[in-house]
Amino acid sequence: MKKIGLFYSFNSKKTARIAGIIHNNFTSDDVQDVNVDDINKGNFPDFDIMILGVPTWFDGELPNYWDELMPALEEIDFSGKKIAIFGLGDQKGYPENFCDAIGIMALFFEEKGARIVGKQPLAGYTFETSKAVRNNEFLGLPLDQENQSRLTVGRIENWVALLKSEFN
Ligand SMILES: Cc1cc2nc3c(=O)[nH]c(=O)nc-3n(C[C@H](O)[C@H](O)[C@H](O)COP(=O)(O)O)c2cc1C
Repeated sequence: MKKIGLFYSFNSKKTARIAGIIHNNFTSDDVQDVNVDDINKGNFPDFDIMILGVPTWFDGELPNYWDELMPALEEIDFSGKKIAIFGLGDQKGYPENFCDAIGIMALFFEEKGARIVGKQPLAGYTFETSKAVRNNEFLGLPLDQENQSRLTVGRIENWVALLKSEFN
């Protein structure tokens, strides 16, 4: 398998812990962790396969560290890249914006030519609306540490098994 870039903020505690579990579900040599806090247009690492960790903040928005990076990525061509997105959210606290950031990121990278992989069924989640949903499926993996933390490890194992086939 080609090297996978696992992008997330090392300072975002819950997301970083989840990223660690995801990393450990791959063969360690296959995955390189990238701290989103440290990258910009000039040093955006070039991976053909990327996994992005994106919690939703501010009632349906990206956290600052992703939001500030996106304009710098506008001119990069992501054609031929495969991108999988996991998101943290709270379906009880924010049922109208559950994991919106997954959808915001998916749309952005699709428009830049990337192929989004790792889509997931809606079953098992309870919410009203989400930008992460298209054609009755999530555009990535939603994880809810506030309300469904006991499901997280199993969800990640299933997702990584899917990614291993889609990344090839
Ligand atoms: C101020 C605030 C706003 C939030 N807004 C949303 C939201 O719109 N949608 C959602 O699904 N979760 C929302 N959340 C929940 C977070 O995404 C969730 O707590 C996540 O685990 C945070 O991960 P992090 O600590 O790694 O950033 C919000 C949390 C806070 C504190």
